[in-house]
Amino acid sequence: MLVAGNWKSHKSFNEAMEFANAMSGMSPAPEGVEVMVAPPAPYLAALAQAGWPCRLGAQNVSATGPGAQTGEYTADMLAGCGVHDVIVGHSERRDGHGDTDAVVADKVKQVLEAGLRVVFCCGESLQDRQTGVHFDKVLRQLESGILHLPMDVMDRVVVAYEPIWAIGTGLTASSEQAQEMHAAIRGWIRQAFDAATASAIPLLYGGSCKPDNADELFACPDVDGGLIGGAALEPDSFRAIIDAAGRSVAAAVDGHQG
Ligand code: PGA
Repeated sequence: MLVAGNWKSHKSFNEAMEFANAMSGMSPAPEGVEVMVAPPAPYLAALAQAGWPCRLGAQNVSATGPGAQTGEYTADMLAGCGVHDVIVGHSERRDGHGDTDAVVADKVKQVLEAGLRVVFCCGESLQDRQTGVHFDKVLRQLESGILHLPMDVMDRVVVAYEPIWAIGTGLTASSEQAQEMHAAIRGWIRQAFDAATASAIPLLYGGSCKPDNADELFACPDVDGGLIGGAALEPDSFRAIIDAAGRSVAAAVDGHQG
């Protein structure tokens, strides 16, 4: 299980340090649960140097290498600052910040070439779902961003399914809706690669995942964790979601033993 926090454009630098201190003071994440938080980019190097308490994520990256690109930062720069994971293709960047499928595919390439792990976001709008094209939409995003990659980078790819209508709205996909889409995504990955790759790839759910619905979502067989926005801003609610992931791991272990 992977529990990943996406702070978006929230928190001052001091608040980010306070969060790190609070998390450092907590007991380690449960066995089998990996934790990542993606703070705003200007803080990344300093947070890494101060001893960030989990994997350090970035929320964005340049689609190209170094050059005359005012305001951009490359994947190599992020790697040099101590970043492990980069979120690419978030709907808030696809919608309004120019991240078309082609740009997203270039960003994925840059992240992987820098040796980092990519958290590739996909998801449909409410209109897509209401008109029944949600599977087509997500498949198209995956085809352009992920499914053509060489097999040997797939251990550095995480997919986050985030229905746009559930992000920051308080509306969550039901566990049935999440499971159905996650199973489809795993099936497409199996077809494009193989069964081992499909079963190993972490598939995160994102969109109003909170302490009170995390257990139900994480109990779905094809949900391997969450990409958490609002509920990742406070150490206690984020920790409650990490603990829910721990319960899901423990239940899976019990299931195998039983
Ligand atoms: P939310 O955001 O948890 O606040 O809905 C999720 C995301 O955008 O990654």
